[in-house]
Amino acid sequence: MATEILVTGGAGFIGSNFIHYLRRTHPEWRITNLDKLTYAGNLENLEGVEGEPGYRFVHGDIGDEKTVAPLVAEADLIVNFAAETHVDRSIRNAGEFILTDVYGTFVLLEAFRANRRARSFVQISTDEVYGEVSTGSSKETDPLMPRNPYSASKAGADRLAYSYFATYGLPVVVTRASNNYGPRQYPEKVIPLFITNALEDRPVPLYGDGLQVRDWIHVDDHCSAIDLLLSRGTPGETYNVGGGCEVTNLDLTKRILDLVGKPASLIQSVTDRPGHDRRYSLDTTKLRGLGWMPERRFDEGLADTVAWYRAHPSWWQRIKANDPGYRTFYREHYGQEPSASASGT
Ligand code: NAD
Ligand code: TYD
Repeated sequence: MATEILVTGGAGFIGSNFIHYLRRTHPEWRITNLDKLTYAGNLENLEGVEGEPGYRFVHGDIGDEKTVAPLVAEADLIVNFAAETHVDRSIRNAGEFILTDVYGTFVLLEAFRANRRARSFVQISTDEVYGEVSTGSSKETDPLMPRNPYSASKAGADRLAYSYFATYGLPVVVTRASNNYGPRQYPEKVIPLFITNALEDRPVPLYGDGLQVRDWIHVDDHCSAIDLLLSRGTPGETYNVGGGCEVTNLDLTKRILDLVGKPASLIQSVTDRPGHDRRYSLDTTKLRGLGWMPERRFDEGLADTVAWYRAHPSWWQRIKANDPGYRTFYREHYGQEPSASASGT
């Protein structure tokens, strides 16, 4: 019998890259993608997979018990990517983050408790649950100190997932990845936002002094870690998944502008994010102990990412020029106009 895998949030950035990854690495697996298609979900991300045998899309909410129960009952493996994911949106309005990231994860876990068919449930968490790290690198055993509503809701889901292992003995594994980059990332996150603004000769809004540090990992390296953990992760354990590539936002911005071929004068210093975590850093010894290593070098991965956005203008122009939600958020958040609208509004 072919392995049945339930992927939630598979129309988003990492979920869709994971589905493409699975098609390459386990073509015989049968994939069900459950996604609510929020503003961040996009079926174009699944071009080449849609309509293929062994792939099925279900439009629905992970917080909806009736949708979730039969899908969980059929699954041998479950990976929960579905979430609200943008820190700045969580600062403006946290409600959806609690509903999806915490309550939605609870509904999935309850469905798993009711039907224990799956041999592994991977909860996709984030390095942001540790909060900012001034020195050294976070180990899986470090205390969680999330400092914004996004990371706090992810920390809730992270420990809730663990509690279903500790309390009910379910085979749950938690991953905490650092900042992902690569193709198909919604252009609100810093890398696609800055690439696409630069391609349009628009300012790139750098928060505060730009000396905050993020550890970047190519999305394919995150996918390979999840794939490994589906078979080799120990139930109840948490694994950091970091790229080992710490860069300040200012340095990142300069590299992007260089790759796009635009001047540093596009950098626009804007008011800092409230509660902005200064630095994230992961100790990945535990995952490396299973034989995993990130394979993508940041300089070539970033160049490929710039090339992807250059080659797919209609993918991001549709969002930036036509998505009213994107345009409203941009105006309210940055106090300036996003890119020119296709409709002239
Ligand atoms: P994304 O915002 O690009 O995609 C999220 C997807 O989830 C979208 O397709 C959306 O439609 C779907 N979704 C949202 N609410 C849903 C609901 N209630 N039911 C079903 N589907 C729903 O996010 P991403 O960057 O791909 O992140 C995926 C996961 O990885 C998240 O759990 C995030 O916290 C985690 N993560 C992301 C990063 C990163 O750098 N992007 C780093 C570490 C961890
Ligand atoms: P982001 O991509 O939102 O990811 P996260 O907050 O989850 O790390 O932001 C990455 C870094 O870039 C973060 O330190 C905030 C900074 N940033 C800016 O300077 N300007 C921006 O417009 C955005 C969206 C982010």
